[in-house]
Amino acid sequence: MARLNLLEETRFEKLPVTIFKNPKEASLSVAQRIATLIKEKQQQNLNAVLGLATGATPIAVYAELVRLHKEEGLSFKNVITFNLDEYYPMQPNAAQSYVTFMNENLFNHIDIDKNNVHIPDGTLNLEEIPAFCLAYERKIESVGGLDIQILGIGRTGHIGFNEPGSAPNSGTRLVTLDDLTRRDAARDFGGKSNVPTKAITMGIGTIFKAKEIILMAWNRKKASIIKKAVEGEISSEVPATYLQLSDNVEFILDQDAASGLTRFNTPWLVKDCVWTEELTRKAVIWLANKLNKPILKLTEDDFNNNGMAQLATEQGPVYNINIH
Ligand code: PGA
Repeated sequence: MARLNLLEETRFEKLPVTIFKNPKEASLSVAQRIATLIKEKQQQNLNAVLGLATGATPIAVYAELVRLHKEEGLSFKNVITFNLDEYYPMQPNAAQSYVTFMNENLFNHIDIDKNNVHIPDGTLNLEEIPAFCLAYERKIESVGGLDIQILGIGRTGHIGFNEPGSAPNSGTRLVTLDDLTRRDAARDFGGKSNVPTKAITMGIGTIFKAKEIILMAWNRKKASIIKKAVEGEISSEVPATYLQLSDNVEFILDQDAASGLTRFNTPWLVKDCVWTEELTRKAVIWLANKLNKPILKLTEDDFNNNGMAQLATEQGPVYNINIH
């Protein structure tokens, strides 16, 4: 359901976004939410069911969970985990496997029962995969569903390995990786040609069933895909846009990943601005590009019709602004 935006400044944003100064602060806050869930469940003698992600993004979250275990006695005895995805084919003991990643970043350092850890199996024969995927879905359901699903986002807009073209009701399945995803993974594999072409991933439908979905993104490299995911039309071309349909989603961003959002990139469209030289220059260049006109040809009407009336009024006539 589209969210009603009460704040004018965020009116282009179709899902809740929380922005932190840097990835570290954001990661601590996500780890704290996970820890709180685990403790609440402990008090009720229940399991906490976590959907986990790999990649660079969640590493500091896992590091903080490890610290909370070692220094503050947080126990993971009541935690059941399901990872989003795994390359296919992939041996669990390979350096690039998500089994290795999860062990090194989290599981080897906490007191979780390894029987409670679930990661899609990259060693299956092709014909075994459909039954495995169905069983993965059933297993999640049988323990009461995911309490929290952690997500990163790929530059293709993928969540898990649900690449462009994925259906909103997709379940756990074998998929083919996007070329950009394989390029982004090339460094880990010593060249793109070594990156598997396939993966087993939870579906968008699987992710959607989680009671709480937290998508994290850091870094300016993610700014453009974050803008599309948060402000763009819902489309299978950017699978993360499906999250706009969830009532239980939150995007946790650092300032760099948020920098493409309208309120930061073109703030004059959503609020009154303090027109510094830098902002004025940015806005005028933006307007010239948008209208495909030379700067000196931009008129009063151009300013007024494109959300720059405040600038024209405060510092006009616009001819002088253009010259400047
Ligand atoms: P990253 O990957 O955390 O390494 O940026 C995210 C993703 O591809 O989902």
